[in-house]
Amino acid sequence: MGVFGRVIMLMMPITPKFIIRWVANRYVAGPDLESALVVMRQISAQGACFTVDVLGEEITTLAEADFFVEEYARVLDAIVAEGLDANISLKPTAFGLLIDQSAAVANIERITRKAAENDIFVRLDMEDHRVTQPTIDLVTTMHERELTNIGTVLQARLFRTGEDITNLSEKLANDSDVRICKGIYLESEGIAHTGYHQIVEATNRAIDQLLDAGSYTAIASHDMPVINHSLAALSERGMGPNKSGEVGGSLRNGKGPGYEFQMLLGVRGNIRRRLASQGHRTRVYIPYGSRWYEYSMRRLRENPDVAWHIAKSIIMPWTNRR
Ligand code: FDA
Repeated sequence: MGVFGRVIMLMMPITPKFIIRWVANRYVAGPDLESALVVMRQISAQGACFTVDVLGEEITTLAEADFFVEEYARVLDAIVAEGLDANISLKPTAFGLLIDQSAAVANIERITRKAAENDIFVRLDMEDHRVTQPTIDLVTTMHERELTNIGTVLQARLFRTGEDITNLSEKLANDSDVRICKGIYLESEGIAHTGYHQIVEATNRAIDQLLDAGSYTAIASHDMPVINHSLAALSERGMGPNKSGEVGGSLRNGKGPGYEFQMLLGVRGNIRRRLASQGHRTRVYIPYGSRWYEYSMRRLRENPDVAWHIAKSIIMPWTNRR
């Protein structure tokens, strides 16, 4: 699998752009906000809610952050105008986190304040290990400023994640809201698990820890061993559809103990629809933007397994329905 992914990755630079576009069409809503709105209107009927991501990350000059501040403001206005059950996901490095931390804090505060005025939650996506602590600090800083409609993502593959859950839960108590995922960045074995089974076990442990800590737990995985573990963990704790932990559809900022399942646009929609039909809250991650080509290429370079997943969904479509 790793070898096949690497072969695809080596072929990427010589693959015609129209082929990459054809493949990316499944995973990216389109080049602009209007295309994202079309996709969300279509998927709403499947009982899902959304988190919207404007494609782009790690800017080189602070001026580039203005684009993201303005575009996310447009997204928030559109969510309100369309009455969508949606929140936003943003990448702190697109707001200048690696250039000037205080400028990034100010940029993200502007967005978070506007979101708070409309009862919309803001999720800081987690990028590579260079920004793990600064991203967590951003969340606690916003909470100190009484902006509690913000949370981040923790990557279970990182050794530090158990401690991060403990610290966040202690600091934020019932306002803690964490998306837990395996982590897409292939970090070194000095700081992270690198084998599939260890990563799955670490993810399942982190889910248990979050649920036990009373954090709102957004389970972001398409992997059956993780989903099945989560279902059992919820049931053991008396959580699930029509039990405690069920979150009403109107609550957009997802506060207090509870859970939801999150999946990427275009990935394992059949499993997502099944969870929704069982009464679980499901959320689809909707990336859009003109930088779809750079985004696709970067994801593939970062993690060759993604290339294998995509190839498998084309060759064996029954394993991964849109
Ligand atoms: P796994 O990789 O084993 O995938 C299970 C199955 O799902 C595969 O066999 C395949 O069928 C399908 N699949 C998974 N990924 C696919 C893909 N890209 N294309 C096609 N099929 C795919 N990571 C991070 O570091 N920071 C973050 O902020 C986020 N945010 C985030 C949000 C949401 C909503 C999701 C679902 C995921 C993330 N991730 C992330 C990514 C996450 O860390 C992880 O890399 C992927 O979800 C893949 O891991 P799975 O648990 O799905 O298992």
